[in-house]
Amino acid sequence: MSHPALAPGRVAVVTGGASGIGLAACKRFARRGMRVCLADVDDEALPGAERAVAELARSPGDVLARRTDVGQREDVECLKRDVYDAFGEVAVLMNNAAAFRFGGAFRDQEAWETTFAVNLMGIVHGLQVFVPAMIEQATPCAVVNTGSKQGITNPPGVANYNAAKAAVKSLTESLQHELRNTDGCRVSAHLLVPGWTTTGRREHRPEAWLPEQVADRMIESVERGDFYILCPDGETTPEMDRKRILWAARDLTENRPPLSRWHPDYKQAYESFEP
Ligand SMILES: NC(=O)c1ccc[n+]([C@@H]2O[C@H](COP(=O)([O-])OP(=O)(O)OC[C@H]3O[C@@H](n4cnc5c(N)ncnc54)[C@H](O)[C@@H]3O)[C@@H](O)[C@H]2O)c1
Repeated sequence: MSHPALAPGRVAVVTGGASGIGLAACKRFARRGMRVCLADVDDEALPGAERAVAELARSPGDVLARRTDVGQREDVECLKRDVYDAFGEVAVLMNNAAAFRFGGAFRDQEAWETTFAVNLMGIVHGLQVFVPAMIEQATPCAVVNTGSKQGITNPPGVANYNAAKAAVKSLTESLQHELRNTDGCRVSAHLLVPGWTTTGRREHRPEAWLPEQVADRMIESVERGDFYILCPDGETTPEMDRKRILWAARDLTENRPPLSRWHPDYKQAYESFEP
């Protein structure tokens, strides 16, 4: 199966493209013969990432790197201008950049502001700036937003990150609905939900996935037309994900306390729960 947005010569823009899952996606796109734009706020990592992607591309001119803070709408507008000037179109927009700060539910305001500015508003900016032009192109295109299981099952400890990722899930679902109800629109939307993936400076553990595995899963799922791209890892199987997601949803329908999976009174019920 193949998706025309992922065909050789077409253009992918990846935010957070200088590291981890974003960089792995850029490499996979380049290896398919696509033209690639890496956008990232980390201007130290960007040149090395650009070189690594260019080595896999059909030619170095097929790769562009742009310092972009996705939290700043003007930066994203500049990025769009540069990509259209260089390549004339965008086939794949991967809104993937994220900031990681620990924020409690009633503390750490700065962490909340940064997390929402990058992880949520960064995606809003990507959609507002690029999607109308992608629709206008009238060619098959795809938007991939990177979410997280933390935005679905809400584990304790990082309330700000979980809340932003829950918003990314909601936003991407609405996006898909709006795109499919827009006359003549040939843009599809997809929510990438990675599992535990070794990125950044983290030491690789055998149970984690490598970013390349996530990128491969993302590409094969987009080609199949899947909206939800839920990745397992070496520790969490698809069955475990299913149990966790359904349990979390049933907190509401069963009138349990929220996050009951981590509540001592519900430990046994969770363990014996068979979805
Ligand atoms: N690694 C995991 O286990 C995991 C699990 C679930 C979801 N995710 C999600 O995957 C995506 C990629 O993360 P990763 O794990 O590859 O991390 P990473 O740190 O390797 O990559 C994130 C990139 O985003 C960039 N970035 C940060 N702020 C930015 C900004 N304001 N503008 C532009 N770029 C910015 C960083 O410089 C970095 O290059 C994120 O959305 C993350 O939330 C990761």
